[in-house]
Amino acid sequence: MDQSYSKLYCIACGHQEPVTTSRFYCSSCGDLLSVEHDLTAVAAHHGDLKALFRERLLQMQPPYASGVWRYHELILPDLPAEGIVSQPEGNTGLYRRPAVDRYVGAAAWIKHEGENPTLSFKDRGMTAGVSWAKHAGAKRVACASTGDTSAAMACYAAAADLPAVVLLPENKVSVEQLVQPLSYGAHVLALKTDFDGCMARVKELTEDGEIYLLNSMNPFRIEGQKAIGIETVHQLDWQVPDWFVIPVGNAGNISALGKGLLTLHQLGLIDRLPRIAGVQVDAANPMFQAYSEGWKRRTRMTARPTVASAIRIGDPVSFDKAKGVLQHFQGVVTEVSDAQALDAKAAVDAAGINICPNSGVAVAGAKRLVEQGIISRQQSMAIIATAHGSKFATTTLPYHSQPEAAGDYSNPPRLTEPTLEAVRSALSELPDARHRGR
Ligand code: F0G
Repeated sequence: MDQSYSKLYCIACGHQEPVTTSRFYCSSCGDLLSVEHDLTAVAAHHGDLKALFRERLLQMQPPYASGVWRYHELILPDLPAEGIVSQPEGNTGLYRRPAVDRYVGAAAWIKHEGENPTLSFKDRGMTAGVSWAKHAGAKRVACASTGDTSAAMACYAAAADLPAVVLLPENKVSVEQLVQPLSYGAHVLALKTDFDGCMARVKELTEDGEIYLLNSMNPFRIEGQKAIGIETVHQLDWQVPDWFVIPVGNAGNISALGKGLLTLHQLGLIDRLPRIAGVQVDAANPMFQAYSEGWKRRTRMTARPTVASAIRIGDPVSFDKAKGVLQHFQGVVTEVSDAQALDAKAAVDAAGINICPNSGVAVAGAKRLVEQGIISRQQSMAIIATAHGSKFATTTLPYHSQPEAAGDYSNPPRLTEPTLEAVRSALSELPDARHRGR
C-alpha cells in the first residue's frame, strides 16, 4: 500500500488537518476529526475485497490473523503492515442461544467483545490507535478511562514499548480493571473526580502534543473499532441483521459501528444498512435525553453511581458523531435501570456467555425495545457485548450471594456441611432442570 488513501477532516466544517497531528480537535472550529479513506481508490487497487478477507482467514500470525487487520484496507490503508501492533485482537464469538432469544423476545446474536486480549472491545480501537501513534512518532501516550480503555492502552503501549499515562476516577473502576494498567506497567494516576473530570484533565495534559492522546476523540482509534460491525457481518456471511444494539457511554463505539457498516455499504459489500439502537443506563443517560427531545440540544449531566460503571459518563465526547450515525441509521436510543441490566446480564451468563453489566444494559435495552414493538419479534439483531463478566466479578457476586441484591436470575451458593450426607441432602432439594431464574 504505497499510495496515500486517507485524509483527516473536521466533522462540522470540513477543515483538513495533517494525518500525523497529535491534536484531535479542528484547529478552525474545535469540533471532532474523522479519518476518511478514498474507498473508490481502495476498491480499484484491491479488486475483490471479500476474496482478500476470506483468504486471510487462513492466516495464523499477526497482523492478518487479527479480526481488525484482516480488514486492513478498510481500517488504516496507509499504515504499513510492518507498523502494526497486534495481540492479535478480534475474532470474537458470535453466539446464538435459544434462552437468549427467549429472554429478548426475538432472534438475538451476542457478539462477545469480552473475548479480546484485555477482555473488552477497546482492543480493536487500541491496536489501531497505538499502531498509528508509533507511525506518527509519538513518544508517550495517555488516556482517561472508566477502566477498559486504560487496560487496553496500557497493554498495547507495553507491546509497542511506549510509556503510558492513565487517569482514572478514584474508586470508580472495578478492581479487576484497575489491576490491568498496573500490571502492564502504565503510570496510573487516581484522581478524586469522575470520568468526565479525568477527561477534562487529560485533554489539557495532551494539548501541546507532547503526549499522544488515545481517548476515542482520537479518530484513528475509531477506525479500529469499526471492525466490530465488519467482523459481525462477515461472520454472518455478509448478511445484515435488522438491528445492531449497543451500550453507549462516551459514544465512540456506536460512532465506529455505524462508520464501519457504512463503509461496507459504500463498497457494495453489503446490500442494506441495519438500524442501530443505543442503550444507556438511567443513571447516565445524556444521549437518551437528547434523543427523547428530538436532538434539540446537546445534553450534559453529572452521571450517578451505577453497576454499569464503564458507561457512567455524563458528557460523551463523541456525542456529535453518534448523533450523526443514529440519524443516518434510523436509530433509536433507550434507557434501562441497574436492576434490568443485572437481570439481563445474568440471563445471558446463564446461557454460557459471561458478559459484563454494561453489556447487560444493551441486552435489557433490546428486550425493552421488543416489548415496546420498536424491534419486531420477527426481526433479527446483533447485540454488542462490550466486555467480559470476569472484569466485573465484584459487581456480580452480590447479585448471586446477597438476598438484598438478588434479582430474577440469582443463583446463590448454599452453605453445606462437609459430609456426604449433607451434600446429598442439599442436592435432593434442587430441581432437576438447570437453574434458569425464578
Ligand atoms: N462497555 C464497556 C465495557 C466500556 O468500557 C465502555 C466504555 C462502553 C461500553 C461504552 O463505549 O464509550 O464508546 O460509548 N468505556 C470507556 C473506558 C469510556 O474508558 O473504558 P463508548
